[in-house]
Amino acid sequence: MARAAVLVWLVSMTLVSTHLAQGLGVNWGSMASHPLPPSKVVAMLKENGFTKVKLFDAEPSTMDALAGSGLEVMVGIPNDKLEKLAKDYGSAKDWVKENVTSYLYDGGVSIRYVAVGNEPFLTSYNGSYVKTTYPAMKNIQKALYEHSKDIGTKIKVTTPFNADVYESKSDKPSGASFRKDIRQTMVQILGFLKQEKSPFLVNIYPFLSLALNPDFPKEFAFFDGGGRSVQDNNIQYHNVFDANMDTCHYALKKEGFEDLEIVIGEVGWPTDGDASGNVRLAKKFYDGLFKKLAKGDGTPLRKGKVEVYLFGLFDEDQKSVAPGDFERHWGIFRHDGQPKFPMDLSGKGQNQMLKPVKGGGNDGEAMIEVSAGDVAALSLSAGLLLAMTFFTLM
Ligand SMILES: *[C@@H]1O[C@H](CO)[C@@H](O)[C@H](O)[C@H]1NC(C)=O
Ligand SMILES: *[C@@H]1O[C@H](CO)[C@@H](O)[C@H](O)[C@H]1NC(C)=O
Repeated sequence: MARAAVLVWLVSMTLVSTHLAQGLGVNWGSMASHPLPPSKVVAMLKENGFTKVKLFDAEPSTMDALAGSGLEVMVGIPNDKLEKLAKDYGSAKDWVKENVTSYLYDGGVSIRYVAVGNEPFLTSYNGSYVKTTYPAMKNIQKALYEHSKDIGTKIKVTTPFNADVYESKSDKPSGASFRKDIRQTMVQILGFLKQEKSPFLVNIYPFLSLALNPDFPKEFAFFDGGGRSVQDNNIQYHNVFDANMDTCHYALKKEGFEDLEIVIGEVGWPTDGDASGNVRLAKKFYDGLFKKLAKGDGTPLRKGKVEVYLFGLFDEDQKSVAPGDFERHWGIFRHDGQPKFPMDLSGKGQNQMLKPVKGGGNDGEAMIEVSAGDVAALSLSAGLLLAMTFFTLM
């Protein structure tokens, strides 16, 4: 009887956590000098309950490891390829053949999206990719359709944009519009996304709001409330994530595209390289984010579940530090595949460490980067971790 009860409890726990983790993706970057074996990484992703990955390219070793995994994949095309793909349909066809359709064999890679370029309209790129992004998107989609109508319909082309593609004159969501210098191109792209039923991808970084602006009200970067809020007409915003996503909604609406789905291409918090980049604040941010995602009630203007890709999987020591020293510390795992701090993807706030990459070079105890202030919290979490292990073993 008791055993049956425990079994039912375990089964329902499994169902609940699978349900809550559904839709959680993560960005798997490749700018590391000592990348971990892709097959071990894929095993770890599955063990932790991730269901999707977003790549910035389509490296064969990564793609081969993803084959048969059931993970849903967004492959990426780097910005420096956009010009060629825009001007030469033949090279778009070659790209699709080599990096998409060759993986669609039985038991192959479950490719759902192709991300054409990465934040191509970032202000610091000085407009370098404004003319080529849209034609490259069209050529890739056309090549997918040319392979087969089924593939063209199933695999969607999109482009992850930085949130600096829109702005707000009033500093409130309702005052939003797309940046003037790219507005015309944006409208073309939005029309394309609508026609193809593709989502609008945007990367939202509360960390950058806080790190780049000394006057930013700190608590507004997190999800715990208690800080300053922003009143916009009859809506009160308690965190910058919601406010930013609704700013995106208003910018789309202003151009007549409020029906486009918004997917968060990147969201996360670094653990070093800035006064606000540390384990304590990263944990605070992710705890709040996962609770929010588990509730599934979206933002004030966009009710319902939000599709999210965390940024990022590992620390990457070959990323440019031009934006700041924090750039190499975005990983929820260290470069060696060990988790940095307790994280509960299901949003239930259990202080469990994610499972590490096995055979990634360091199979020992996870080294936890903590300041003295975190020690009490962590010994509590170690207790919970033991309790969880105990239950799972039963
Ligand atoms: C396919 O993607 C890989 C990795 O991103 C790249 O090196 C290669 O050039 C691409 N293939 C074609 C035909 O463009
Ligand atoms: C953009 O312009 C700035 C200032 O002129 C320059 O320093 C930077 O290298 C340029 N960036 C690109 C990607 O062209």
